[in-house]
Amino acid sequence: MKIIAFNGSPRKTWNTATLLNKALEGAASQGAETELIHLYDLNYKGCISCFACKTIGGKSYGKCPIQDDLAPIFKKVEEADAIILGSPIYVGRVTGEMATFMDRLVFQYLEYTNPPQSLFPKKMNTGFIYTMNEKEEKLKTNGYDKPITINEHVMGIVFGSCESLLSFDTHQFKDYAKVVATAFDAEAKAKRREEVFPIECQKAFDMGVRFATEVV
Ligand SMILES: Cc1cc2nc3c(=O)[nH]c(=O)nc-3n(C[C@H](O)[C@H](O)[C@H](O)COP(=O)(O)O)c2cc1C
Repeated sequence: MKIIAFNGSPRKTWNTATLLNKALEGAASQGAETELIHLYDLNYKGCISCFACKTIGGKSYGKCPIQDDLAPIFKKVEEADAIILGSPIYVGRVTGEMATFMDRLVFQYLEYTNPPQSLFPKKMNTGFIYTMNEKEEKLKTNGYDKPITINEHVMGIVFGSCESLLSFDTHQFKDYAKVVATAFDAEAKAKRREEVFPIECQKAFDMGVRFATEVV
């Protein structure tokens, strides 16, 4: 059992990475082999719309032909038993690195058929962990639920399932006194970090346990 997590935050030890690590700890507690990959360490660009992955009889049908840092990563994904993506919300959607990774990851396996089919060689559990400054009650009014629903839908088509875990009102700055951030109550942020973030970490841990034990 191998479970890989992908961190779409530039920060390697903050909210998103912490939750991903918790999920991997949960998986490891059940004996799974785990790996955390930081997308910001990799060199890659977005889909170039070459359609090699869609060309009838082509040698890259169902495979992204671009030979950059994502090529070995896609091989690892095919060999994995579950994957967990994690990203902060930047300007209402996932980070550019995560969006670019997602485009390249899923598009190669998506068959333009009606209904759409998946060329990914098997079904597997996938999870998507989102962290954001926003409070839960603003999720819908801000429209953040839309990209999350789309990701669930597309990942569901390609991999068979996708479970989302959302972490709200995160602790963003080491020292709120050193930045202009009057929109936030530093004390309330610290309190939430102590009281609510551990619950979200437990949910991430439980996701890891489930993915390591409930094979699809
Ligand atoms: C460039 C940038 C844009 C952001 N945009 C949003 C946003 O639109 N909505 C939101 O709720 N939080 C936003 N945030 C806050 C982050 O989503 C939040 O602090 C997140 O938990 C950071 O994840 P990390 O600690 O793993 O880096 C933004 C942060 C940055 C740096």
